Amino acid sequence: MNYRHAYHAGNFADCFKHALLVALLDSLSRKLAPYFVLDTHAGAGGYDLEAEEARRTDEATPGIRRLLQRPSPILGRYLGLVEQLGLYPGSPALIRAVLRGNDHLTCCELHPEDAANLRRRFHRDAHVEVHERSGWEALGALLPPRERRGLVFIDPPFEERDEFSMLTDGLRRGHARFSHGIFAGWYPVKKMAAVREFHGGLVSSGIPDIVSIELHLRETTNPERLNGCGLIVINPPYQFESQAQSIANAVLDGLGDNEIGAGATVIRLADE
Ligand SMILES: C[S@@+](CC[C@H](N)C(=O)[O-])C[C@H]1O[C@@H](n2cnc3c(N)ncnc32)[C@H](O)[C@@H]1O
Repeated sequence: MNYRHAYHAGNFADCFKHALLVALLDSLSRKLAPYFVLDTHAGAGGYDLEAEEARRTDEATPGIRRLLQRPSPILGRYLGLVEQLGLYPGSPALIRAVLRGNDHLTCCELHPEDAANLRRRFHRDAHVEVHERSGWEALGALLPPRERRGLVFIDPPFEERDEFSMLTDGLRRGHARFSHGIFAGWYPVKKMAAVREFHGGLVSSGIPDIVSIELHLRETTNPERLNGCGLIVINPPYQFESQAQSIANAVLDGLGDNEIGAGATVIRLADE
């Protein structure tokens, strides 16, 4: 457990996944019926971008700080939440801000310090449960939810070699228990061979209705760098693909480096 999100909060990957996360939640909120959100790798919930950890890497400067300087209307909803929430929000804070009266969030976080932060943040909040447990295990234990509708957000640290296969396996197990749920799983783009193998595994899993949204900052010539990232979405809401394309384009334009090989794409991996 070396990964600490405090060093990476506010980077381009956060902006990309959080803007899409908010869009998915808003689509769930269009129907009156309550929904459930499982955040399997929740982190600390909120981060001080002026703290030592964030300053050491300074990943927020070419990330969220830049997006806030030149706010695109397409990102207005997401950036508005970031500004409104004060302390830079992680996924649990963003999700909590979108939940309505009868909706619920369960966060899983394995690092004791981050889990303790989450507990403090959501102390006495009847809408949120915090579990200091493995999110991979929670996919089996906590699904399907009572609400029978909702979103499972899977955002692993990718510090282990086999995390692509853990993500495929987690999506497969989660989908087997909650086949109508929306699943969103983040992954890094370092080298394309690993991404192609991951997509191939998902296609052969037989899970229907999968799209992948990818943001590339540059060509993947150096596999040691985070050259981009993607989000797998199973059971995407109506018109989500075009919305996701616009969001990914807006994040890329806002970051504005425009290196060779930069681009944003939405790929359909499996039909409905
Ligand atoms: C990328 S960060 C999460 C960031 C968060 N989702 C957000 O968007 O603000 C990944 C987190 O997963 C935690 N973690 C690592 N292995 C885990 C596991 N098996 N189950 C739950 N959490 C885990 C790490 O401690 C870290 O806080």
